Amino acid sequence: MDKVPVDQPVRLTVKVEGGNVLPGHAGIVVYPVDSSKFFVVAAIAIIAAAAKNGAEAGDLADLRDERIIVRTSVAIIGAGPAGMFLAHLLARSGIDAVVLERRDRAYVEGRVRAGVLEQVTTDLMRDLGLAERLDREGLVHAGTQISLDGELARIDMAALTGGSAVTVYGQQEVMHDLFEAASARGIQIVWNAQDVVLEGLDTDAPVVSWRQDGEPRELRCDFVAGCDGYHGVSRASIPGDVLRTFERIYPFGWLGILAEVPPANHELIYANHERGFALASMRSPTRSRYYIQCGLDEDVMDWPDERFWDELCLRLGSEAAARITRGPSFEKSIAPLRSFVSEPMRWGRLFLAGDAAHIVPPTGAKGMNLAVSDVMFLGEALVEHYRGGSASGLDTYSSRALARVWKAERFSWWFTSITHRFPEMDGFARRIQTAEIEYIRGSPAAQRVLAENYVGLPL
Ligand code: APR
Ligand code: PHB
Repeated sequence: MDKVPVDQPVRLTVKVEGGNVLPGHAGIVVYPVDSSKFFVVAAIAIIAAAAKNGAEAGDLADLRDERIIVRTSVAIIGAGPAGMFLAHLLARSGIDAVVLERRDRAYVEGRVRAGVLEQVTTDLMRDLGLAERLDREGLVHAGTQISLDGELARIDMAALTGGSAVTVYGQQEVMHDLFEAASARGIQIVWNAQDVVLEGLDTDAPVVSWRQDGEPRELRCDFVAGCDGYHGVSRASIPGDVLRTFERIYPFGWLGILAEVPPANHELIYANHERGFALASMRSPTRSRYYIQCGLDEDVMDWPDERFWDELCLRLGSEAAARITRGPSFEKSIAPLRSFVSEPMRWGRLFLAGDAAHIVPPTGAKGMNLAVSDVMFLGEALVEHYRGGSASGLDTYSSRALARVWKAERFSWWFTSITHRFPEMDGFARRIQTAEIEYIRGSPAAQRVLAENYVGLPL
C-alpha cells in the first residue's frame, strides 16, 4: 500500500485471495491505474473495518473473492446524450468521473432518435471541441414550414430571433462524436454495467454498485448524476414521498421511417391535416426522415412502404408531395407521445438530468436539447463546487433546470396540440386549431413566439 502514489490519480484493485488475506498484507494486490488518494483510504478502511468487527481472513474471502473498488468524484449513470455531455463538461474542467452504461456502445449509438439541434447544443459541441463533423455535415436550417391542409407557410426563424437557427444532425451522429473523443480525454465508460444500485444518496458518501460479467463492482463517489433515461434506476432511487410527477399521455403515436432518398424540401415541414399530423424531416441531403401520426393500437406490419408514402403525400398536400422521392424504408417504428416531469431534480447527492427527469413529445424536437441544457446547469454547478467549494449552483440546480424544462414542456405540448388530430375533436376544436395556425401565418408577433421557442430559449 505504501508504495502506491497518492498524489496523482490512481485506481486500485483489491484482490482477496482464497482464505489467506490479512489486512494490508499478502493477498491484497494493488494495481495503481488512475484513481485517487481517497481510494487508498477507502480500501484500507474497508479491510480495517472488517477486521475490527471480528472478521478473520477467511471471512473476508467468504464475503467476496475478488472485489474491485474504484473511487471517483462523479458517478454518471447512463451514456446517452445527458451522461456523455456531462462527462465531457467535467473532463474539460479536470473533474474525475466514471460513466456506467447498461448497454454496449453499438446499441447506444445505433438507436434512431431525433436529429434537430438547438443553437445551445451546437454551441456546446463547438465549445467542447466536438463540432468538426457537425460543422461539415450538419444542415443549418434558418426556417421551417408549417402546412395547413396542404398549404405551406414559412417561418423565418433566423430573421425572427436575431440570427438563431437549428441544425439537423442525427442524435446517432452526436453520440458517435461524443464517444469517439471520450477515451483521448480520459473519460472512463463502463459498458454493460448490470443491476446498478445507488446507495447512500442522502449521505456524503454515495456508493454505486453493479455487476460486470456477473462479478460485483463498486464505485464510491461524491455525487451521482442520474442520466439513465425514463426507465433508469436513478429516479426510482428517490423516495416516493419526495417526488411529484406530472404527466400527459397523448392518444396517438408517430409512425416514423428512414429512407435513403433526398428530402422533399430543404427545410422541415410540420403538417396539420384533416387526416392527421405529418412531418417531413431529414438526416442528410440523401437521407429522409418522415413521420405520420397514427393510432396507439396500430402495428408497423400494417404499414408497408407504399401505404406509408401514400398517406404521407395526402397529409403533406400536393405541393410538397410533388417533391417527395419514394424509396424503400430501412427503419420503421411507432413511438408513443407523452409529456412527463418529475420534481425535484435533486435528492441528496443525486442529480437527475435528461429523460430521467422529463419527457417531451417529439413535436419541436426538444428531447435531446433539454438533456443538454440540464447538464450545462449541472456541469457548471459541479465545477463551481470543486473549484470554490460553493454549493449554491448545486442547491439551485433543480429549480434552474425545471424552469427551462417547463417552458420546453409547454412549447412541445402546445405545438403538439395545434398540429395533431385528437380523437375527441369536434368542429369547434378543429376550427380553433385552424384559426391558431392562420393567426401564426399572419402575425409576425406570433411567428416570433414560435421561432424563439423552436430555436431554443436562452439558458
Ligand atoms: N444503469 C445504467 N445505464 C442505464 C440504466 C441503468 N439502470 N437504465 C438506463 N440506462 C442507460 C440507457 O441504456 C441509455 O443509454 O441510460 C441511457 C439514457 O439515455 P437516453 O434515454 O438517451 O436519455 P438522455 O441521455 O437523458 O437523453 C434524452 O435523448 O435519447 C434521447 O429521446 C431521448 O431525446 C431524449 C434525449
Ligand atoms: C426528426 O428528424 O427525427 C425530427 C425532427 C423534428 C421533430 C421531431 C423529430 O420535431
